[in-house]
Amino acid sequence: MHVPVLEKEVMEFLEVEKGAYFLDGTLGMGGHTKAILSNNKNAFVFAFDMDQESIKMALKNLSNFKDRIKAIHDNFKNIFNHSLPFNRIDGYLFDLGISSFQLDNPEMGFSYSKDSPLDMRMDKTQELTAEKVVNDYSYNELIRVFKEFGEFKNPERLVKEILLTRKRKRIRTSGELKEVVRTLYRKRKTMDPLSRVFQAIRIEVNRELEGLDSFFYTLFSKIKRGARVVVISFHSLEDRIVKNSFRKAAKNGYIRILTKKPVMPSDTEKKINPRSRSAKLRAGVRI
Ligand SMILES: C[S@@+](CC[C@H](N)C(=O)[O-])C[C@H]1O[C@@H](n2cnc3c(N)ncnc32)[C@H](O)[C@@H]1O
Repeated sequence: MHVPVLEKEVMEFLEVEKGAYFLDGTLGMGGHTKAILSNNKNAFVFAFDMDQESIKMALKNLSNFKDRIKAIHDNFKNIFNHSLPFNRIDGYLFDLGISSFQLDNPEMGFSYSKDSPLDMRMDKTQELTAEKVVNDYSYNELIRVFKEFGEFKNPERLVKEILLTRKRKRIRTSGELKEVVRTLYRKRKTMDPLSRVFQAIRIEVNRELEGLDSFFYTLFSKIKRGARVVVISFHSLEDRIVKNSFRKAAKNGYIRILTKKPVMPSDTEKKINPRSRSAKLRAGVRI
């Protein structure tokens, strides 16, 4: 069963019982949206997800609430292209990254624990796949991806190995990519290079960090006074962007930051829901 991360804290920071309209930018399995709709019988949620499959699943999970939810298949960075009643929306939630449903689904190719096609697209309508990144990117492009998104200081050896392998044959599955990485790096308990390789490619394929800072800044400048924004991130690159855009918006007088330090799950939550381990929640209110 899907367990939403930091559910109680999200409800508190959004002041769910006081609001009427909410926007969930990352519907996923609908866990947080369900909590909003259950905690406030008058709430209505506009819910975005760039993964059509997730929307389908979420709407099934939320069938009891179908009159109080409008699901939209799009990147949340495009919310202002939709005519929504922004002057009435009281709270915005962004639970970034991928869901456990996506991670566990072998067709998505996010996980290297199963051998699956190198896809990694959250949005299946887009063209760029992990297979294209791994096989068609130039040496310099791959260096950039692993440096910027995998936090490798010296990815040259790794990129050369990939180039050498793909000269012989296209690298088509997560298992094949794993093999290439493991010829160079042994398994590590923390910051395993293998998981950093997969993270880097996933971020590149889905353009996860692109425009994130300007998105949050614009969001803060456009939403109504008193509206609350809650963002949950799962790795340091993401959190740094979120932290900086919150700070910039606060400095320019748009928001008051509600979380001096990011809120993290309790040990009990981490035990019950291992996916929550690296979660960091930041919240702000428009002033
Ligand atoms: C961590 S999960 C959200 C889980 C959700 N809060 C729940 O409780 O079920 C993230 C979801 O957001 C979607 N997603 C990630 N980045 C997105 C973006 N920029 N725009 C729209 N959806 C996005 C993913 O497809 C995934 O389904």
